[in-house]
Amino acid sequence: MIPPPLVSTLDARLESGDREFSVRPGAPGRISMGHRELINMASCDYLGLARHPAVVRAAHDALDDWGLGTAAGRALSGTTVLHRDFERRLASWVGCEDAVLHSSCWAANAAVFATLTVLANQARRPLAVFSDRLNHASIIDGIRAQRSAVAHLVLYDHHAGLDDLRHGLTTVPTDAVKVIVTDGIFSMEGDQAPLRALRTLAEEYGALLVVDDSHGNGVVGPHGRGTAESQQLLGRIDVITGTLGKALGGAIGGFVAGPRALTSTLRSMSRPYTFSNNPPPSVVAGAHATLDVLAGHDSPLATLRTRVEQLRSGVIALQLPTWPGKHPIVPVVIGDEHAAQELSANMIRTGVFVTALTYPVVPRGAARLRLQVSAAHAESAIDHVLNVLADSGHA
Ligand SMILES: Cc1ncc(COP(=O)(O)O)c(C=O)c1O
Repeated sequence: MIPPPLVSTLDARLESGDREFSVRPGAPGRISMGHRELINMASCDYLGLARHPAVVRAAHDALDDWGLGTAAGRALSGTTVLHRDFERRLASWVGCEDAVLHSSCWAANAAVFATLTVLANQARRPLAVFSDRLNHASIIDGIRAQRSAVAHLVLYDHHAGLDDLRHGLTTVPTDAVKVIVTDGIFSMEGDQAPLRALRTLAEEYGALLVVDDSHGNGVVGPHGRGTAESQQLLGRIDVITGTLGKALGGAIGGFVAGPRALTSTLRSMSRPYTFSNNPPPSVVAGAHATLDVLAGHDSPLATLRTRVEQLRSGVIALQLPTWPGKHPIVPVVIGDEHAAQELSANMIRTGVFVTALTYPVVPRGAARLRLQVSAAHAESAIDHVLNVLADSGHA
Protein backbone atom coordinates (compact mmCIF):
# COMPACT_ATOMS: atom_id res chain seq x y z
CA MET A 1 0.00 0.00 0.00
CA ILE A 2 1.29 3.48 -0.83
CA PRO A 3 1.51 5.40 2.48
CA PRO A 4 -1.31 8.04 2.58
CA PRO A 5 1.06 11.07 2.91
CA LEU A 6 2.62 10.09 -0.42
CA VAL A 7 -0.66 9.67 -2.32
CA SER A 8 -1.37 13.37 -2.82
CA THR A 9 2.28 14.05 -3.76
CA LEU A 10 2.14 11.31 -6.36
CA ASP A 11 -1.20 12.59 -7.70
CA ALA A 12 0.21 16.11 -7.97
CA ARG A 13 3.16 14.80 -10.00
CA LEU A 14 0.80 12.98 -12.34
CA GLU A 15 -1.22 16.15 -12.87
CA SER A 16 1.92 18.20 -13.52
CA GLY A 17 2.16 16.11 -16.68
CA ASP A 18 5.19 13.81 -16.29
CA ARG A 19 5.61 12.96 -19.97
CA GLU A 20 6.82 9.70 -21.40
CA PHE A 21 5.99 8.80 -24.96
CA SER A 22 5.60 5.29 -26.21
CA VAL A 23 7.49 4.88 -29.47
CA ARG A 24 8.40 2.13 -31.94
CA PRO A 25 11.37 1.91 -34.30
CA GLY A 26 11.01 3.54 -37.70
CA ALA A 27 13.50 3.81 -40.54
CA PRO A 28 17.07 4.62 -39.34
CA GLY A 29 17.09 8.00 -37.58
CA ARG A 30 13.29 7.94 -37.22
CA ILE A 31 10.74 6.61 -34.75
CA SER A 32 7.06 5.78 -34.97
CA MET A 33 4.36 7.13 -32.68
CA GLY A 34 0.87 5.87 -33.37
CA HIS A 35 0.56 5.86 -37.17
CA ARG A 36 3.16 8.54 -37.72
CA GLU A 37 6.88 8.30 -38.36
CA LEU A 38 8.97 11.17 -36.99
CA ILE A 39 12.58 12.28 -37.33
CA ASN A 40 14.20 11.27 -34.06
CA MET A 41 16.24 14.19 -32.70
CA ALA A 42 16.28 12.83 -29.14
CA SER A 43 18.57 9.81 -29.41
CA CYS A 44 22.21 9.28 -28.42
CA ASP A 45 22.69 6.77 -31.26
CA TYR A 46 25.05 9.33 -32.78
CA LEU A 47 26.70 6.94 -35.22
CA GLY A 48 23.45 5.21 -36.18
CA LEU A 49 25.03 1.88 -35.20
CA ALA A 50 22.24 0.52 -32.97
CA ARG A 51 20.76 -1.16 -36.03
CA HIS A 52 23.89 -1.51 -38.17
CA PRO A 53 23.84 -4.98 -39.81
CA ALA A 54 27.34 -5.96 -38.56
CA VAL A 55 26.49 -4.87 -35.02
CA VAL A 56 23.15 -6.66 -34.97
CA ARG A 57 24.74 -9.78 -36.49
CA ALA A 58 27.48 -9.87 -33.85
CA ALA A 59 24.85 -9.55 -31.10
CA HIS A 60 22.70 -12.27 -32.71
CA ASP A 61 25.64 -14.66 -32.95
CA ALA A 62 26.50 -14.10 -29.29
CA LEU A 63 22.86 -14.57 -28.33
CA ASP A 64 22.84 -17.90 -30.19
CA ASP A 65 26.11 -18.98 -28.59
CA TRP A 66 25.63 -17.76 -25.03
CA GLY A 67 21.88 -17.35 -24.51
CA LEU A 68 20.21 -14.36 -22.93
CA GLY A 69 22.59 -13.81 -20.05
CA THR A 70 25.26 -15.28 -17.83
CA ALA A 71 22.98 -15.59 -14.80
CA ALA A 72 25.90 -14.65 -12.59
CA GLY A 73 28.02 -11.64 -11.74
CA ARG A 74 31.53 -11.36 -13.18
CA ALA A 75 33.19 -12.60 -10.01
CA LEU A 76 31.14 -15.82 -10.12
CA SER A 77 30.76 -17.48 -13.52
CA GLY A 78 29.79 -14.33 -15.45
CA THR A 79 33.15 -13.54 -17.08
CA THR A 80 33.13 -14.76 -20.68
CA VAL A 81 35.91 -14.46 -23.21
CA LEU A 82 33.76 -11.81 -24.92
CA HIS A 83 33.85 -9.62 -21.79
CA ARG A 84 37.62 -9.79 -21.40
CA ASP A 85 38.35 -9.32 -25.12
CA PHE A 86 36.14 -6.28 -25.24
CA GLU A 87 37.61 -4.79 -22.06
CA ARG A 88 41.11 -5.01 -23.53
CA ARG A 89 40.06 -3.55 -26.87
CA LEU A 90 38.08 -0.75 -25.21
CA ALA A 91 41.01 0.10 -22.95
CA SER A 92 43.50 0.50 -25.78
CA TRP A 93 40.90 2.37 -27.84
CA VAL A 94 40.51 5.05 -25.15
CA GLY A 95 44.26 5.05 -24.44
CA CYS A 96 44.31 3.24 -21.08
CA GLU A 97 45.94 0.07 -19.76
CA ASP A 98 42.81 -1.90 -18.94
CA ALA A 99 39.06 -1.49 -18.53
CA VAL A 100 36.36 -2.98 -16.30
CA LEU A 101 32.81 -3.29 -17.62
CA HIS A 102 29.93 -2.37 -15.34
CA SER A 103 26.17 -2.67 -15.78
CA SER A 104 26.01 1.05 -16.65
CA CYS A 105 28.15 4.17 -16.60
CA TRP A 106 26.06 5.25 -13.61
CA ALA A 107 27.36 2.20 -11.75
CA ALA A 108 30.89 2.79 -13.10
CA ASN A 109 30.98 6.35 -11.72
CA ALA A 110 29.59 5.19 -8.37
CA ALA A 111 32.28 2.50 -8.24
CA VAL A 112 35.10 4.96 -8.97
CA PHE A 113 34.24 7.25 -6.06
CA ALA A 114 33.45 4.45 -3.63
CA THR A 115 36.78 2.80 -4.43
CA LEU A 116 38.80 6.02 -4.21
CA THR A 117 37.22 6.65 -0.81
CA VAL A 118 38.33 3.26 0.48
CA LEU A 119 41.83 3.71 -0.97
CA ALA A 120 42.27 7.19 0.55
CA ASN A 121 41.02 5.87 3.85
CA GLN A 122 43.46 2.98 3.78
CA ALA A 123 46.27 5.43 3.00
CA ARG A 124 45.03 7.57 5.94
CA ARG A 125 44.81 10.62 3.68
CA PRO A 126 41.89 13.06 3.34
CA LEU A 127 40.06 12.83 0.03
CA ALA A 128 39.59 16.09 -1.93
CA VAL A 129 37.28 16.04 -4.95
CA PHE A 130 37.15 18.84 -7.56
CA SER A 131 34.03 18.52 -9.68
CA ASP A 132 32.63 20.66 -12.50
CA ARG A 133 29.21 22.04 -11.55
CA LEU A 134 27.83 20.88 -14.90
CA ASN A 135 28.90 17.27 -14.43
CA HIS A 136 26.40 14.51 -15.06
CA ALA A 137 24.04 13.40 -12.29
CA SER A 138 25.85 10.07 -11.97
CA ILE A 139 29.07 11.86 -10.98
CA ILE A 140 27.22 14.14 -8.58
CA ASP A 141 25.49 11.19 -6.94
CA GLY A 142 28.69 9.11 -6.97
CA ILE A 143 30.37 11.86 -4.92
CA ARG A 144 27.29 12.45 -2.74
CA ALA A 145 27.20 8.79 -1.78
CA GLN A 146 30.68 9.26 -0.28
CA ARG A 147 29.76 12.59 1.33
CA SER A 148 30.84 11.60 4.82
CA ALA A 149 34.27 10.52 3.57
CA VAL A 150 35.01 13.36 1.13
CA ALA A 151 36.93 15.78 3.34
CA HIS A 152 36.99 18.58 0.73
CA LEU A 153 34.56 19.10 -2.12
CA VAL A 154 35.36 21.96 -4.50
CA LEU A 155 32.86 22.80 -7.24
CA TYR A 156 33.99 24.83 -10.22
CA ASP A 157 32.35 25.85 -13.50
CA HIS A 158 34.56 25.58 -16.57
CA HIS A 159 32.42 28.21 -18.32
CA ALA A 160 33.61 30.73 -15.71
CA GLY A 161 37.27 29.68 -16.09
CA LEU A 162 39.40 27.46 -13.88
CA ASP A 163 40.32 29.96 -11.12
CA ASP A 164 38.05 28.28 -8.56
CA LEU A 165 39.64 24.94 -9.37
CA ARG A 166 43.19 26.27 -9.11
CA HIS A 167 42.35 28.08 -5.88
CA GLY A 168 40.86 24.89 -4.43
CA LEU A 169 43.90 22.86 -5.42
CA THR A 170 46.18 25.31 -3.64
CA THR A 171 44.12 25.46 -0.43
CA VAL A 172 43.33 21.81 0.37
CA PRO A 173 45.92 20.12 2.62
CA THR A 174 48.99 19.07 0.66
CA ASP A 175 48.71 15.47 1.84
CA ALA A 176 45.14 15.11 0.47
CA VAL A 177 44.36 12.58 -2.28
CA LYS A 178 43.14 14.99 -4.98
CA VAL A 179 40.70 13.95 -7.70
CA ILE A 180 39.57 16.23 -10.54
CA VAL A 181 36.45 14.90 -12.26
CA THR A 182 34.75 16.18 -15.37
CA ASP A 183 32.44 15.17 -18.19
CA GLY A 184 34.40 14.98 -21.47
CA ILE A 185 31.40 16.43 -23.32
CA PHE A 186 28.77 18.25 -21.28
CA SER A 187 25.45 16.65 -22.04
CA MET A 188 23.23 19.73 -21.85
CA GLU A 189 25.53 22.06 -23.83
CA GLY A 190 27.50 19.73 -26.10
CA ASP A 191 30.75 21.57 -25.33
CA GLN A 192 34.09 19.95 -24.45
CA ALA A 193 35.82 20.05 -21.09
CA PRO A 194 39.13 21.96 -21.18
CA LEU A 195 41.08 18.71 -20.77
CA ARG A 196 44.47 20.14 -21.67
CA ALA A 197 44.24 22.77 -18.93
CA LEU A 198 42.86 20.18 -16.48
CA ARG A 199 45.73 17.82 -17.33
CA THR A 200 48.26 20.60 -16.63
CA LEU A 201 46.64 21.43 -13.28
CA ALA A 202 46.42 17.74 -12.36
CA GLU A 203 50.14 17.35 -13.01
CA GLU A 204 51.03 20.55 -11.15
CA TYR A 205 49.10 19.54 -8.01
CA GLY A 206 49.48 15.75 -8.18
CA ALA A 207 45.77 15.11 -8.77
CA LEU A 208 44.07 12.15 -10.45
CA LEU A 209 42.10 13.22 -13.56
CA VAL A 210 38.83 11.33 -14.11
CA VAL A 211 36.87 11.97 -17.32
CA ASP A 212 33.38 10.64 -18.03
CA ASP A 213 33.37 10.49 -21.81
CA SER A 214 29.91 9.02 -22.32
CA HIS A 215 29.02 11.56 -25.02
CA GLY A 216 32.54 11.76 -26.45
CA ASN A 217 33.35 8.10 -27.11
CA GLY A 218 32.67 7.21 -30.73
CA VAL A 219 31.87 10.81 -31.57
CA VAL A 220 34.75 13.27 -31.18
CA GLY A 221 38.41 13.04 -32.14
CA PRO A 222 39.79 12.23 -35.62
CA HIS A 223 38.88 8.52 -35.22
CA GLY A 224 36.01 8.98 -32.77
CA ARG A 225 38.12 7.80 -29.83
CA GLY A 226 36.77 10.53 -27.62
CA THR A 227 37.56 13.86 -26.03
CA ALA A 228 41.11 12.78 -25.15
CA GLU A 229 41.81 12.03 -28.82
CA SER A 230 40.19 15.31 -29.83
CA GLN A 231 42.58 17.26 -27.57
CA GLN A 232 45.68 15.14 -28.41
CA LEU A 233 45.67 13.58 -24.95
CA LEU A 234 45.27 9.89 -25.77
CA GLY A 235 47.13 7.94 -23.09
CA ARG A 236 47.32 10.96 -20.79
CA ILE A 237 43.98 10.81 -18.97
CA ASP A 238 44.26 8.80 -15.77
CA VAL A 239 40.75 7.36 -15.63
CA ILE A 240 38.04 7.37 -18.30
CA THR A 241 34.49 6.19 -17.69
CA GLY A 242 31.92 5.74 -20.42
CA THR A 243 28.70 4.11 -21.53
CA LEU A 244 27.68 1.51 -24.09
CA GLY A 245 24.25 3.15 -24.15
CA LYS A 246 25.01 5.90 -26.65
CA ALA A 247 27.32 5.85 -29.72
CA LEU A 248 28.68 2.37 -29.02
CA GLY A 249 25.48 0.57 -29.98
CA GLY A 250 22.95 2.30 -27.75
CA ALA A 251 22.28 -0.73 -25.54
CA ILE A 252 23.32 -0.86 -21.91
CA GLY A 253 26.55 -1.06 -19.96
CA GLY A 254 29.40 1.13 -18.82
CA PHE A 255 33.09 0.94 -18.11
CA VAL A 256 35.99 2.30 -16.13
CA ALA A 257 39.32 2.44 -17.98
CA GLY A 258 42.60 3.32 -16.33
CA PRO A 259 45.89 1.99 -14.99
CA ARG A 260 45.86 -1.78 -14.39
CA ALA A 261 46.52 -1.25 -10.67
CA LEU A 262 43.20 0.60 -10.43
CA THR A 263 41.16 -1.66 -12.71
CA SER A 264 42.25 -4.80 -10.90
CA THR A 265 41.44 -3.13 -7.59
CA LEU A 266 37.98 -2.30 -8.97
CA ARG A 267 37.49 -5.97 -9.85
CA SER A 268 37.79 -6.84 -6.20
CA MET A 269 36.47 -3.65 -4.57
CA SER A 270 33.73 -2.29 -6.82
CA ARG A 271 30.45 -3.32 -5.25
CA PRO A 272 28.36 -2.65 -8.41
CA TYR A 273 30.80 -4.96 -10.28
CA THR A 274 30.83 -7.70 -7.66
CA PHE A 275 27.21 -7.66 -6.56
CA SER A 276 25.42 -6.89 -9.82
CA ASN A 277 25.32 -8.48 -13.28
CA ASN A 278 27.44 -7.19 -16.17
CA PRO A 279 26.06 -6.47 -19.66
CA PRO A 280 25.06 -9.74 -21.38
CA PRO A 281 27.32 -11.36 -24.02
CA SER A 282 25.09 -10.22 -26.91
CA VAL A 283 25.42 -6.56 -25.84
CA VAL A 284 29.17 -6.92 -25.31
CA ALA A 285 29.60 -8.49 -28.77
CA GLY A 286 27.44 -5.81 -30.40
CA ALA A 287 29.33 -2.99 -28.68
CA HIS A 288 32.64 -4.60 -29.67
CA ALA A 289 31.44 -4.67 -33.29
CA THR A 290 30.80 -0.90 -33.20
CA LEU A 291 34.56 -0.39 -32.73
CA ASP A 292 35.20 -2.53 -35.83
CA VAL A 293 32.72 -0.47 -37.85
CA LEU A 294 34.35 2.76 -36.66
CA ALA A 295 37.77 1.45 -37.70
CA GLY A 296 36.56 0.22 -41.12
CA HIS A 297 36.17 2.11 -44.39
CA ASP A 298 32.42 2.54 -44.01
CA SER A 299 32.82 4.44 -40.72
CA PRO A 300 29.78 6.67 -40.21
CA LEU A 301 31.89 9.47 -38.68
CA ALA A 302 32.22 11.54 -41.86
CA THR A 303 28.46 11.48 -42.45
CA LEU A 304 27.82 12.39 -38.81
CA ARG A 305 30.12 15.40 -39.10
CA THR A 306 28.50 16.60 -42.33
CA ARG A 307 25.03 16.44 -40.76
CA VAL A 308 26.22 18.17 -37.56
CA GLU A 309 27.68 21.00 -39.61
CA GLN A 310 24.42 21.27 -41.59
CA LEU A 311 22.30 21.58 -38.43
CA ARG A 312 24.70 23.82 -36.51
CA SER A 313 25.16 26.30 -39.37
CA GLY A 314 21.39 26.33 -39.96
CA VAL A 315 20.65 27.04 -36.29
CA ILE A 316 23.22 29.85 -36.29
CA ALA A 317 21.78 31.30 -39.52
CA LEU A 318 18.34 31.34 -37.83
CA GLN A 319 19.97 33.26 -34.95
CA LEU A 320 18.69 30.78 -32.39
CA PRO A 321 20.68 30.83 -29.12
CA THR A 322 22.94 27.78 -28.97
CA TRP A 323 26.45 26.77 -27.84
CA PRO A 324 29.38 26.84 -30.23
CA GLY A 325 31.11 23.55 -30.95
CA LYS A 326 31.16 20.54 -33.23
CA HIS A 327 29.33 17.95 -31.19
CA PRO A 328 26.03 16.40 -32.39
CA ILE A 329 24.31 17.75 -29.26
CA VAL A 330 22.90 21.05 -30.51
CA PRO A 331 20.96 22.88 -27.80
CA VAL A 332 18.41 25.53 -28.70
CA VAL A 333 18.01 27.59 -25.56
CA ILE A 334 14.48 28.96 -25.21
CA GLY A 335 14.63 30.06 -21.55
CA ASP A 336 10.99 29.87 -20.48
CA GLU A 337 9.93 26.31 -19.57
CA HIS A 338 6.43 26.63 -20.89
CA ALA A 339 7.61 28.03 -24.22
CA ALA A 340 10.17 25.23 -24.56
CA GLN A 341 7.51 22.60 -23.87
CA GLU A 342 5.14 24.22 -26.36
CA LEU A 343 7.85 24.28 -29.00
CA SER A 344 8.68 20.62 -28.47
CA ALA A 345 4.96 19.69 -28.69
CA ASN A 346 4.68 21.72 -31.88
CA MET A 347 7.75 20.06 -33.39
CA ILE A 348 6.34 16.64 -32.56
CA ARG A 349 3.13 17.63 -34.37
CA THR A 350 5.18 18.62 -37.41
CA GLY A 351 7.20 15.42 -37.57
CA VAL A 352 10.29 16.10 -35.41
CA PHE A 353 10.65 14.18 -32.17
CA VAL A 354 12.48 16.30 -29.61
CA THR A 355 11.88 16.80 -25.91
CA ALA A 356 12.16 19.99 -23.87
CA LEU A 357 14.71 19.90 -21.07
CA THR A 358 13.58 21.85 -18.05
CA TYR A 359 14.54 22.34 -14.39
CA PRO A 360 16.08 20.42 -12.59
CA VAL A 361 17.86 18.89 -15.61
CA VAL A 362 18.98 22.42 -16.60
CA PRO A 363 19.00 25.59 -14.43
CA ARG A 364 15.74 27.53 -14.03
CA GLY A 365 15.20 29.98 -16.88
CA ALA A 366 17.48 27.99 -19.20
CA ALA A 367 14.94 25.53 -20.64
CA ARG A 368 15.98 24.22 -23.99
CA LEU A 369 15.47 21.78 -26.79
CA ARG A 370 18.39 19.43 -27.13
CA LEU A 371 18.65 18.39 -30.76
CA GLN A 372 20.85 15.34 -31.25
CA VAL A 373 22.19 14.60 -34.71
CA SER A 374 22.86 11.07 -35.91
CA ALA A 375 24.72 9.70 -38.93
CA ALA A 376 21.42 7.90 -39.59
CA HIS A 377 19.71 11.22 -40.40
CA ALA A 378 19.25 12.00 -44.07
CA GLU A 379 20.25 15.46 -45.31
CA SER A 380 16.56 16.11 -46.05
CA ALA A 381 15.68 15.24 -42.42
CA ILE A 382 18.00 17.96 -41.09
CA ASP A 383 16.54 20.39 -43.68
CA HIS A 384 13.08 19.58 -42.35
CA VAL A 385 14.18 20.21 -38.73
CA LEU A 386 15.57 23.60 -39.77
CA ASN A 387 12.38 24.49 -41.66
CA VAL A 388 10.28 23.65 -38.62
CA LEU A 389 12.56 25.78 -36.41
CA ALA A 390 12.38 28.64 -38.92
CA ASP A 391 8.56 28.58 -38.70
CA SER A 392 8.48 28.18 -34.93
CA GLY A 393 8.23 31.86 -34.06
CA HIS A 394 11.53 31.67 -32.11
CA ALA A 395 13.91 32.27 -35.04
C1 LIG B 1 27.82 12.04 -19.06
C2 LIG B 1 27.03 10.82 -18.71
N1 LIG B 1 27.52 9.96 -17.79
C3 LIG B 1 26.86 8.85 -17.44
C4 LIG B 1 25.63 8.55 -18.00
C5 LIG B 1 24.92 7.31 -17.56
O1 LIG B 1 25.12 6.31 -18.51
P1 LIG B 1 24.39 4.91 -18.35
O2 LIG B 1 23.10 5.04 -19.08
O3 LIG B 1 25.32 3.92 -18.96
O4 LIG B 1 24.20 4.68 -16.88
C6 LIG B 1 25.07 9.39 -18.94
C7 LIG B 1 23.76 9.07 -19.53
O5 LIG B 1 22.90 9.88 -19.72
C8 LIG B 1 25.79 10.57 -19.31
O6 LIG B 1 25.28 11.43 -20.20
